[in-house]
Amino acid sequence: MSDAPTGAATGREAQVPEWPMPRAEGCPFDPPPALRELTAEQPLAKVRIWDGSTPWIVTGHAAQRALLSDPRVSVDERLPGFPHWHEGMAAAVAYRPRSVFNSDAPEHTGFRRIMTGPFTLKRVEALRPSIQKITDGLIDKMLSGPKPADLVQALALPLPTLMISELLGVPYEDHDFFQDNASRGIAHDVSVEETMRTFGALNEYLVRLVEKKAAEPADDALSDIAARVTAGDITVSEAAMMGLGLLIAGHETSANMIGLAVPALLEHPEQLAILRDTDDPKVVAGAVEELLRYLGIIHGGQRRIAKEDIEIGGEVIRAGEGIIIELFSANRDADVFPEPDLLDLRRVNARQHNAFGFGIHQCVGQQLARVELQIVYGTLLRRIPTLALATPSDRIEFKHDRLAYGVYTLPVTW
Ligand code: HEM
Repeated sequence: MSDAPTGAATGREAQVPEWPMPRAEGCPFDPPPALRELTAEQPLAKVRIWDGSTPWIVTGHAAQRALLSDPRVSVDERLPGFPHWHEGMAAAVAYRPRSVFNSDAPEHTGFRRIMTGPFTLKRVEALRPSIQKITDGLIDKMLSGPKPADLVQALALPLPTLMISELLGVPYEDHDFFQDNASRGIAHDVSVEETMRTFGALNEYLVRLVEKKAAEPADDALSDIAARVTAGDITVSEAAMMGLGLLIAGHETSANMIGLAVPALLEHPEQLAILRDTDDPKVVAGAVEELLRYLGIIHGGQRRIAKEDIEIGGEVIRAGEGIIIELFSANRDADVFPEPDLLDLRRVNARQHNAFGFGIHQCVGQQLARVELQIVYGTLLRRIPTLALATPSDRIEFKHDRLAYGVYTLPVTW
């Protein structure tokens, strides 16, 4: 049961802190200090969210992995007590079709099988030449334009957007429309009306595209998904939701990883030099894992609910209680990562991070994201060795208010 606050709330219940919590000023790359204090002694604690309910928050690496692979833990957002991100998400539950994001096994298994085809390691490895070409083209264009340039608009956003649009068969010329709606839809404080409006617009767009692909199939992932509609395996709205999930997750996340890594690397020139000066694919791959661990772009906490009582970390999560899995904190768990707040691109076990989640909902696009990042960082740093911020680092606008962390803009010069 989710326990809404009452006037009689006392003791432990009355002291429950609010979530989300702010990061400390001047430490944009570290988790909120208040969260660290709260979970210093135990891997889970209670927090109060926007609707007054008090779900558990889980920060420890081992506890997260245990819960993320526990079939008693559900993503079913329709269950009472589910800890929704915000009011808009709660209000739109009835309008969101079933998908990988809100279904458990075995329903989840069926959806996921339809989506994974284009994102296997083998298929993604074959994309390296075109990712390299797009990266070089975008950097050429930036270098031939005025200084300073906004690295987010010049490179971080268009690279993953071009890739996912091409893979799905979504017209890239519509990018302003879907980027804008996606970005507004994942704000912390978005209103019910705004959620409905952005989701409605994106959903309608994808439904039209799925119908078009069903009528005139092309060689792209959305046509494969549309074929499952024609075969009667899924509905048009389920297909549209798959396309939408891939489109949003496929550009917003990698874009944040590119934009956020640049100020972090410029702040650590000795680490930047490792990436710039190597052509060893193992070193590059390790560096990308460490950046995924260190930057923690998925920082709002993944949402779950317990279907049965679960004993963990000296506590009992009761059936019906909400659970927030704060992946970023696990990436800074000192039991797994020695000196966790240090950016160390040669860290041997960086790949143990939880940045892509764990268990059956682990990221579908992780191989694509890895390859994009393995190409873009080295290319950028080698082609522009004099790359520098064109604004004081304390003036950078970080996405504190978004479900995915990053930078809004990044003025750079060279
Ligand atoms: C650096 C970039 C990325 C990061 C950090 C990231 C992170 C994550 C995380 C943490 C999850 C698990 C969510 C949960 O368990 O609640 C997830 C799931 C997912 N991601 Fe990614 N992601 C990235 C890129 C991508 C890309 C490029 C795509 C699309 C091609 C994608 C598609 C998905 C999908 C469809 C799921 C849902 C999987 C499921 O529920 O079974 N992601 N991602």
